[in-house]
Amino acid sequence: MTLRSYVAGCGAHLPEKVLTNDDITKIVDTTDDWIQGRTGISERRIVEDNEFTSDLAAAAAKKALENAGKSASDVDLIIVATATPDLTFPATAAIVQAKLGISNCTAFDLQAVCSGFIYAVSTADKFLRSGSHKCALVIGAETFSRILDWEDRTTCVLFGDGAGAFVMTAQFVDDDMSEQQGFSGIIETEIQCDGQYVDLLYVDGGVSRTQTTGHLRMQGNKVFRQAIERISSAMVTVCDRSGIYPKDIDWFVPHQANERIIHGIVTKLELRSEQVVSTIAKHGNTSAASIPLAYSTAVEDGRIKSGDLVMLEAMGGGLTWGAILLRA
Ligand code: UT7
Repeated sequence: MTLRSYVAGCGAHLPEKVLTNDDITKIVDTTDDWIQGRTGISERRIVEDNEFTSDLAAAAAKKALENAGKSASDVDLIIVATATPDLTFPATAAIVQAKLGISNCTAFDLQAVCSGFIYAVSTADKFLRSGSHKCALVIGAETFSRILDWEDRTTCVLFGDGAGAFVMTAQFVDDDMSEQQGFSGIIETEIQCDGQYVDLLYVDGGVSRTQTTGHLRMQGNKVFRQAIERISSAMVTVCDRSGIYPKDIDWFVPHQANERIIHGIVTKLELRSEQVVSTIAKHGNTSAASIPLAYSTAVEDGRIKSGDLVMLEAMGGGLTWGAILLRA
């Protein structure tokens, strides 16, 4: 018998306030046509002044626990993937832990920007497989509206706020049960970083360098050119290691950065558009929250069912990127 990790439940939370493309045309020189045509985004959610990343994270976590049939006291590991923490320290995970009424578990933040959820699930998988922890809350939560330059039309139209979460548990699996035979859980993970591309996507402020929060800066078309190649390569890597062909995936749940990037990957790997879970139109790019938000949407509406093969992927600042193959 081998210890493997399993997604026992998921949940998501969005702020109430909707910001449409038409609303943004009143802030910067842009059009609904440009935003929809270049990105697929029609609206996004934005937090109120008194709403914080930890609030979104805790709300998503509660829904994921309920979906998994677990209580907060079962959790022994909390990982919050975020690039927009409540405070410089302590970790947003500590604040979320307190909001959930837990006082005795491992809790830390993980920073891999838009790839944060892929990194966090991969990290939780390693904790659970080692036997050190039994029940992990893995959360992607962001308030990117707080780091956008609302005078920069090249970036402020792209992002939104939100949170999503997985509850992951450890379970023993027969050694001879192969991935293809229906083993449920995390099958393969791949996470990568290439720091020579820091300047393509970054925030121009920080504790050590400027003592300010700063604003998001992106050379969008250069990031775009990297995305399809690197994401596809990570997806092929996890498929090759598992002996599964990309076309055999039931659901492709990509990071929701740009509909054209998603389409490029679908074309390159010869996937079908019916396999894609896309929430970008309503959510925009919610960075580390985008994958669990999309995944939870597809579980809730009955698309992703127990036993389905699911591919997750992302690329973000760093550059960081990665992919995860799992069976729901
Ligand atoms: O999640 C983290 C990873 N992030 C990504 O993966 C994002 C990757 N990049 C992208 O999604 C795309 O590059 C963008 C959506 C950001 C931009 O699309 P693009 O097709 O690469 O456009 P571009 O940056 O090459 O700009 C084309 C034109 C420019 O005008 P000129 O120079 O051709 O006259 C821009 O000034 O579009 C102009 N433009 C806009 N026009 C209207 C840029 N932003 C806007 C805007 N409204 N909001």
